[in-house]
Amino acid sequence: MKISKVGVAGCGIMGSGIAQVAALAGYDVVVREVNKTLLDIGLDKLKKSLSKAADKEKISQQDMEDALGRIHGTINLEEFSDCDLVIEAIVEDLDAKQELFTSLEEICPKNTIFASNTSSLTISKIAASSAKKGRYVGLHFFNPVMQMPLVEVVKSAATDEKVFDTAFHFAESLGKKPITCKDETGFVVNRLLVPYLLDAIRALETGVASITDIDKGMHLGAGHPMGPFTLLDYVGLDTTYHIANIMFEEFGEERFSPPNLLKKMVENGMYGKKSGRGFYDYTGEKPVPAEL
Ligand code: CAA
Repeated sequence: MKISKVGVAGCGIMGSGIAQVAALAGYDVVVREVNKTLLDIGLDKLKKSLSKAADKEKISQQDMEDALGRIHGTINLEEFSDCDLVIEAIVEDLDAKQELFTSLEEICPKNTIFASNTSSLTISKIAASSAKKGRYVGLHFFNPVMQMPLVEVVKSAATDEKVFDTAFHFAESLGKKPITCKDETGFVVNRLLVPYLLDAIRALETGVASITDIDKGMHLGAGHPMGPFTLLDYVGLDTTYHIANIMFEEFGEERFSPPNLLKKMVENGMYGKKSGRGFYDYTGEKPVPAEL
């Protein structure tokens, strides 16, 4: 199975990152957002990131220009009609994902591979109503996509062997280091990472230490590049809350249950870096612990 043209549905943080790495690896990429405003924001983010990579000499100026030349933005789903692979990176909502794939199955050729970047739903659930379940696979990238080497490649019980192998080699062709995961909610990383992040919030609620000291502890004592609160703000508290709820519903285990503080912060629009406030306040010159 040859992949030449890649469709990316969604040009948010993950979709724009996936579009970049695919274009840098030489694929023609069409990236779709639901409206022009979101598309412009996404493409702008994408250009800034490629330009930062060039400034940091991770890629050459020519690589950047070539990659930009290979990326085409659209709000029209029909433009996925000649894609060999479509990677879905839209909102983490089962109905929205199923609706998207139902449309894609009508638009795309019969051999197109349908991949989801879902972080907490299963591929089996997403493909539940499809007559082409064998063509579905998980390709779970990590944020920031340009810098994080891992891709979890997820095989459901129905995924065709050839579809899985093609997806795995595709991830390798992006310069990523893929791992094989069974189709279990949270796969490998979120299954371990989410309880850790929630435990950090519980430790804060209990008064074990301050935000900065818990962060410092895990950064300096466990070698994590970011402490848990910096990472929570980076991933997004709304995203983490949503993932935790899905995982708690699936496993029914306390370790996945979102702490009250997280719930309250999300209800108050404290989503982390993207909203200007989370565990840290980003509105000043440099982040300071937020008033909680
Ligand atoms: N493109 C390519 N490379 C870039 C870049 C860009 N746009 N911007 C920066 N870089 C490079 C830098 O040149 C640097 O490379 P060297 O180390 O070789 O010098 C490297 O990337 C690190 O960049 P910075 O110096 O700007 O920043 P940093 O050292 O503070 O690292 C970080 C930033 C990579 C985000 C690091 O802090 C980190 O790994 N944090 C943890 C992130 C993490 O855990 N992500 C997973 C989240 S969970 C998830 O995504 C799953 C989910 O489903 C929710």
